[in-house]
Amino acid sequence: MLLLTLFICSLVAASEANFYQDCDITWGDQRAKVLNGGNLITLSLDKLSGSGFQSKNSFLFGRIDMEIQLVSGNSAGTVVAYYLSSQGPTHDEIDFEFLGNLSGDPYTLHTNVFSQGKGNREQQLHLWFDPTKAFHTYSITWTREQIIFWVDNIPVRVFNNWESVGVPFPNSQPMRLYSSIWDAEDWATRGGLVKTDWSQAPFTASFRNFSAKAKTNAPKSTNSLQGNAGEDQQLNASGRNWLRWVQDNFMIYNYCTDFKRFPKGVPPECKRSRFL
Ligand SMILES: *[C@@H]1O[C@H](CO)[C@@H](O)[C@H](O)[C@H]1NC(C)=O
Ligand SMILES: *[C@@H]1O[C@H](CO)[C@@H](O)[C@H](O)[C@H]1NC(C)=O
Ligand SMILES: *[C@@H]1O[C@H](CO)[C@@H](O)[C@H](O)[C@H]1NC(C)=O
Repeated sequence: MLLLTLFICSLVAASEANFYQDCDITWGDQRAKVLNGGNLITLSLDKLSGSGFQSKNSFLFGRIDMEIQLVSGNSAGTVVAYYLSSQGPTHDEIDFEFLGNLSGDPYTLHTNVFSQGKGNREQQLHLWFDPTKAFHTYSITWTREQIIFWVDNIPVRVFNNWESVGVPFPNSQPMRLYSSIWDAEDWATRGGLVKTDWSQAPFTASFRNFSAKAKTNAPKSTNSLQGNAGEDQQLNASGRNWLRWVQDNFMIYNYCTDFKRFPKGVPPECKRSRFL
């Protein structure tokens, strides 16, 4: 019995995902479509509703990758979200959100990390390419030591584990992958100044080549995405240089330097990480 359990726990096999097999459309009716034999999902937003999907499995540590092409043209007011989340009032969450803009104005990539129900750790950047013209890869690596956000394999954010100084870190609640498109014209674009132009609807984003290399908590009987990623994902010297390049050139907001918002001092994790 013990041997069997060990065997099952160590079963690892990276698998390239198929959306039919690995994800469920969860809302939006026909606004969410699985296409090309399960290789592509498109999500649309119109005046009545957005749409979304989620992974069947949940993960505790690992690496997820997704190629996304964002809404072209005038996407002001729309938000495309791609994130990992657990359930419940003290949930953990690792977020990518893409805030739309007027044609020609840059999309904003917004990231956040929630641990035990508490977020307020926003960072924002403008990308170094137009994310509406082609698919680009957005990835999360999650270990016991740190969470790294990646864009086309370039690290754009590191959130280190500072449990040693009392900052909760997502390390025990399995998370699912969620993706959606929705309307947030009250705040998304230039703080809500630019509203959604519904004459441009539907707004559509596309997703392909989802891969999850993760330890899963899926029951043994279900299809699981398993892999051995998650070990040894520390940034090397080149990664640290890329991260500095992104932060120096493209970052437009960092909670860690928002002294107005935290008049009594920025959160403890901010003081301790060289790379925020
Ligand atoms: C939209 O474009 C404006 C002007 O370039 C920019 O300040 C803003 O950060 C962009 N993104 C959003 C989400 O407002
Ligand atoms: C899918 O992603 C993998 C890496 O995860 C990459 O090697 C492959 O070329 C991608 N496939 C397509 C069709 O883009
Ligand atoms: C550094 O890390 C990146 C991404 O994690 C990897 O692609 C690259 O090969 C590594 N470089 C070296 C010199 O190990």
